[in-house]
Amino acid sequence: MNMELKILRTKVHGLFSYLITVTIAVLACVGAAPLLIPDLTKCEIASASAPAGPPVTLYFNCCLPIPDGPMVDFSFEKYKPTTKHIRRAAHTASEQYIAKINKAYELMKALPETDGRSFQAQANLHCSFCNGGYPQRGVSGNIPVQVHFSWLFLPWHRWYLYFHERILGSLIGDPSFSLVFWNWDDQINGGNRVPEMFTRVSTSIYDSNRNPNVQPSTVIPLAATTAANDSETIVTNKNLNNMYQSMVTASTATLFMGGAYRAGDDLTNATVLNAPFGGAIENGVHNGIHFYTGDPRTQLLQDMGNFATASRDPIFYAHHSNIDRLWEVWRYDMPDGERFVHTDPDFLNAEFVFYDETGQMVRVTAKDALDSKKLGVYYKKVRSDDLWINYNPPPITNVSAVPAAIASGVPYVGESPLNGTINIGTNFSAIVKRPAEKKPSHKLEVLNIQGVQALRDEFFAIIAFVNIPGAGPTTGTASAEYLGTFNVIPASGKNRHLMANIKYEIGDNLKRIGIEKEEELVISLVVAGSNTTVTIEGLKIDYEDK
Ligand code: C2O
Repeated sequence: MNMELKILRTKVHGLFSYLITVTIAVLACVGAAPLLIPDLTKCEIASASAPAGPPVTLYFNCCLPIPDGPMVDFSFEKYKPTTKHIRRAAHTASEQYIAKINKAYELMKALPETDGRSFQAQANLHCSFCNGGYPQRGVSGNIPVQVHFSWLFLPWHRWYLYFHERILGSLIGDPSFSLVFWNWDDQINGGNRVPEMFTRVSTSIYDSNRNPNVQPSTVIPLAATTAANDSETIVTNKNLNNMYQSMVTASTATLFMGGAYRAGDDLTNATVLNAPFGGAIENGVHNGIHFYTGDPRTQLLQDMGNFATASRDPIFYAHHSNIDRLWEVWRYDMPDGERFVHTDPDFLNAEFVFYDETGQMVRVTAKDALDSKKLGVYYKKVRSDDLWINYNPPPITNVSAVPAAIASGVPYVGESPLNGTINIGTNFSAIVKRPAEKKPSHKLEVLNIQGVQALRDEFFAIIAFVNIPGAGPTTGTASAEYLGTFNVIPASGKNRHLMANIKYEIGDNLKRIGIEKEEELVISLVVAGSNTTVTIEGLKIDYEDK
């Protein structure tokens, strides 16, 4: 804020305009502030429950050990990288490297849980900041800290991996030790399978709480609607389109990284239309991989399918290394040039806490996570990215479906507030008006599925299409009519009630289909994976800033 003020001040001439600028800046600060690290002595027992089947509630003591020494503030000076950490694709790791990573986790797992570097404490960092382990500091009321479902998602997880990697490296005396990434988006070189190294029973990176059908020979479906009998080519094309829609066309910070989350924001008690907004990368493929890996024989899809237990599986860190890598690719390697991350001070100054390789607690901010190279973290380039960057989703329709939809009684739905909510059942189609004015070139056309509510008792997915009235769970997702999927993994306790808004860039889709001149569109929503009741409060097509 200070810096911005200074710049503004030099740009603005005259005392009067200067005063106005200051007043606006001060007003903007009132009622908004970045998330602060919580008071770590105020830990609450986190819980997760599954009401389906014989109901079960599990309680997790995710409380973090508090070391004797003082908490330090992160600085690039103090944590200067002595060497580069070059993360590679897990499926390309040598036997020698696999032995090294196993050794590192073996030593981490042998540490007592009172040690912040231990595997248990590392897993608890995730559980406590997702399942309500700590209330926010400096706000009134008991509002849990939540590092998912918003713009905090990418920086928090980057920091998490950064310290986790340093701890593993120091345990084996190798400061250049680097995590591997699970290259599940790679559809040519075999990355789209569970990396074999994680399937070796009784090694330190194996976890028995995994879906038994998740085996190295199966191609990982990134789309929730992938049918068991889909051929490998169909699965691959659906995967490429999922990547294309979440990485290439979700080009703004909000669409890709997620929306604002500030001190005092309460996901468990928000108005649904103001609910924080998860980005395409998180809601789509990230959640999809969690669901896919979690063990359906456990009620809570443990370990990976539930945020309370996800990071008890060492494959979690390889999954998130890929998410972190994709953030870099999204930012620097897209055909439209460099993209921009959030610059809101409440994003930049959000604070988190981790343990470093000495077990000391470190306070960090989101802004220091924005340059991966400055943290010494690099990713080995993979050619397979080009496949989804250049994917051309083929249209399966070529004229507007609106007349047919009107003829068959598909209703018009407008933006919120409507008269009540709409239960979308297993599938729902609506005709939605586009903005009357022409789109300015600095804007994107975005569909907003407003006020989505459901209970996250089981996994389900909300899949969106344009121009396919009556789309259902078997409608393919490899084509230009597919907008994206919101994969909802089970969550309970404080996070059981899902409230969300979902946004998709649609301009690219309309152009490919050839309906970019139409005034109205058919939007279809499909619920797959379970019979959960999903309601929405409206559908709105709007222009948003790039
Ligand atoms: Cu913190 Cu992949 O979740």
